[in-house]
Amino acid sequence: MHIAMIGTGYVGLVSGACFADFGHHVTCVDKDAAKIAALNAGDLPIYEPDLDRLVAVNMKGGRLAFATELAGPVREADAVFIAVGTPSRRGDGHADLSYVYAAAREIAAALSGFTVVVTKSTVPVGTGDEVERIIRETRSDADVAVVSNPEFLREGAAIRDFKHPDRIVVGTLEERARHAMAEIYRPLYLNQPPILYTDRRSAELIKYAANAFLATKITFINEIADLCERVGADVQEIARGIGLDNRIGSKFLHAGPGFGGSCFPKDTLALIKTGQDHAAPLRIVETVAAVNDARKRAMARKVSAALGGNLRGKTVAVLGLTFKPNTDDMREAPAIPLIIALQDMGAKVRAYDPVGMAQAKNEFADVVFTEDEYGCAQGAHALAIVTEWEQFRALDLDRLKQVMAQPVLIDLRNVYRPDEMARAGFVYDSVGRPRVGE
Ligand SMILES: NC(=O)c1ccc[n+]([C@@H]2O[C@H](COP(=O)([O-])OP(=O)(O)OC[C@H]3O[C@@H](n4cnc5c(N)ncnc54)[C@H](O)[C@@H]3O)[C@@H](O)[C@H]2O)c1
Repeated sequence: MHIAMIGTGYVGLVSGACFADFGHHVTCVDKDAAKIAALNAGDLPIYEPDLDRLVAVNMKGGRLAFATELAGPVREADAVFIAVGTPSRRGDGHADLSYVYAAAREIAAALSGFTVVVTKSTVPVGTGDEVERIIRETRSDADVAVVSNPEFLREGAAIRDFKHPDRIVVGTLEERARHAMAEIYRPLYLNQPPILYTDRRSAELIKYAANAFLATKITFINEIADLCERVGADVQEIARGIGLDNRIGSKFLHAGPGFGGSCFPKDTLALIKTGQDHAAPLRIVETVAAVNDARKRAMARKVSAALGGNLRGKTVAVLGLTFKPNTDDMREAPAIPLIIALQDMGAKVRAYDPVGMAQAKNEFADVVFTEDEYGCAQGAHALAIVTEWEQFRALDLDRLKQVMAQPVLIDLRNVYRPDEMARAGFVYDSVGRPRVGE
């Protein structure tokens, strides 16, 4: 099939490359000319494991191309996917749908023959109705079906998630559209992922409900972690003890510095707004968002507490800046409010991230960026692990002790074991476990 992918970011590029890898002919379109020029030159604008190989192979095979103008690719397409950003709207937290609607208008003008227009961006319930209205208003003669097909991939494991999804959600009641979507995803049937066909509004809401539920799970275990710290229990034991219950499940029960990233913060907020607009407030999700917001600065107070409650004149080394490992994405990364809070408290901050440094440099003032983790620790009074990159899992503790001003480690991802760290001579604090080494 011929596919046009509108928006070539974390979702559009991965989806486009994977569809091409299935054998479809895909053109990824983006307004950002620099991004398209880089892709055409063989450079990836984002970091995602194995994506460079997938893009190169499919470009070479003639199945994947890039363009800045959508008219040509849309005219030829059997299906046009909208994968543009839907960030929080400034001021009120609703999803900003201006990119989606602008894309819909442009797509409408270029449509030719029966075309399925698929919203892959995360959009509030009812957006598909508006996309359809815009298309029909712009082109009353368009032969089109507007489908919701939300994306569930996780950055850092995006290709695997796309090719081995837990489910594919397709929201449309139109038979022709269902048939086209079945054709597009047919190469995945060998792996037998369940395809859930449903109506468009339910598909749109499934995406938000899924993200809000996962955000709730994370926030729940974070609050249990706080209680563990007060009462002398170990949150990892609690997570294991409840996670072995199949009704609960072990995923998303890792206590940490609070969720961040390009999706959970904005999607929980947008869902809250939808609930309020329809007089069906989602009070649990409202609380999750508030608790998570407060947590970032609380993590800075945790660092301060490990240094006796005063950061003035102290240097803190921060390892890991991106919102999770294996991505360069800094959007809503917990490291941002954490570092700002540390600076507010008077600390000097040094920082290192394996791939996120270029993006991170846009976020911070007065941070010393270093070449590696040991350079970062140089002269620091405390070291905080904020993102659990693999390479931080087996740090040379003796070397750290040698370069640091004092051996204090705050592990916001519970990578290390308290007993080991105490034996290694560190003051060690983590999340939801007893502080050791004092
Ligand atoms: N990033 C994730 O992990 C993830 C996962 C699931 C769903 N989503 C959702 O997918 C959508 C896209 O997210 P993303 O992270 O890929 O965003 P992104 O910001 O990385 O990419 C969006 C791209 O769209 C381009 N764009 C905007 N308007 C355009 C237009 N009219 N024509 C062509 N290009 C246009 C932008 O230049 C940008 O490159 C969002 O709704 C997001 O919530 C993201």
